[in-house]
Amino acid sequence: MSEKWAGKVAVVTGTSAGIGAAVFKDFAKAGIITIGLARRAEKVEDLIKELGDVKAYAYKCDVSSPDSVTETFKAIEEKFGVVNILINNAGIGRSASVLDENAESFKKMNEILDTNVRGLTHVSREAYRLMKKSDDYGMIININSVVGHQLPFTGFSLSMYGASKFAVTALTETMRQEMIMQENSKIRVSSVSPGYVHTEFVAASGFVSDPSIVLEGFPYILGDDVSKAVMYLLSTPYNVNVTELTIRPVGEKF
Ligand SMILES: NC(=O)c1ccc[n+]([C@@H]2O[C@H](COP(=O)([O-])OP(=O)(O)OC[C@H]3O[C@@H](n4cnc5c(N)ncnc54)[C@H](OP(=O)(O)O)[C@@H]3O)[C@@H](O)[C@H]2O)c1
Repeated sequence: MSEKWAGKVAVVTGTSAGIGAAVFKDFAKAGIITIGLARRAEKVEDLIKELGDVKAYAYKCDVSSPDSVTETFKAIEEKFGVVNILINNAGIGRSASVLDENAESFKKMNEILDTNVRGLTHVSREAYRLMKKSDDYGMIININSVVGHQLPFTGFSLSMYGASKFAVTALTETMRQEMIMQENSKIRVSSVSPGYVHTEFVAASGFVSDPSIVLEGFPYILGDDVSKAVMYLLSTPYNVNVTELTIRPVGEKF
């Protein structure tokens, strides 16, 4: 990454594990003032201890709760004044069938939408407000998925997850267009779409009862690899907007 973002303020959602934790560490090491949001904020505090002498901060925030998002950004505004970079990374999958009539499936699908779509929207709105306040260059990167562009046949249902990531694809472009309608907007919007990344995600989603059944033998990349893709986007010149970056393990079949 070029030095241009050092000393700027970044908010990264979902930094207690996986991709978000990798981005959080890389940003802090690059001299970016890095604010990590997660429900398990204590895990982000542990990362900060590991990192040592960096400007990194943990805030407890549930992105699926509009009140939690509003309160968190109020606290961020009071302490940091502005935001320059937002990484919308927090995301969940949940095992549920779209065709099920039971209330449990309906609840799980709403949890996916509340986190991956509504949560991303609330966080983006709050971060954008503080980006405009800075009157500096800004960057919003949405961690999407390859299933936000095409749904493979997996043999198990991705329930609302695929639809939520298609929504992220649409929201990325909608936000980019809204920036165009703002005069002299200095804020770029990008989507990063990973294939399979080895994190807590598949086990936490409950898509399958035994994650090893589907994932054994599948090639994978790591959170660090996705973080490098994010760093690449930050390194591009201010007049360049890479709108979509897909990153897969070599040999991925779906
Ligand atoms: N793993 C993959 O194969 C893969 C592939 C493509 C795209 N992705 C996307 O990449 C992103 C990160 O996934 P990952 O693989 O790193 O998953 P992960 O290891 O399960 O980590 C998910 C992170 O999101 C946070 N999170 C979830 N719900 C949240 C909420 N309501 N409020 C705040 N934070 C929340 C979690 O923190 P707390 O639980 O502490 O709140 C955790 O830090 C997601 O958007 C996912 O859809 C993953």
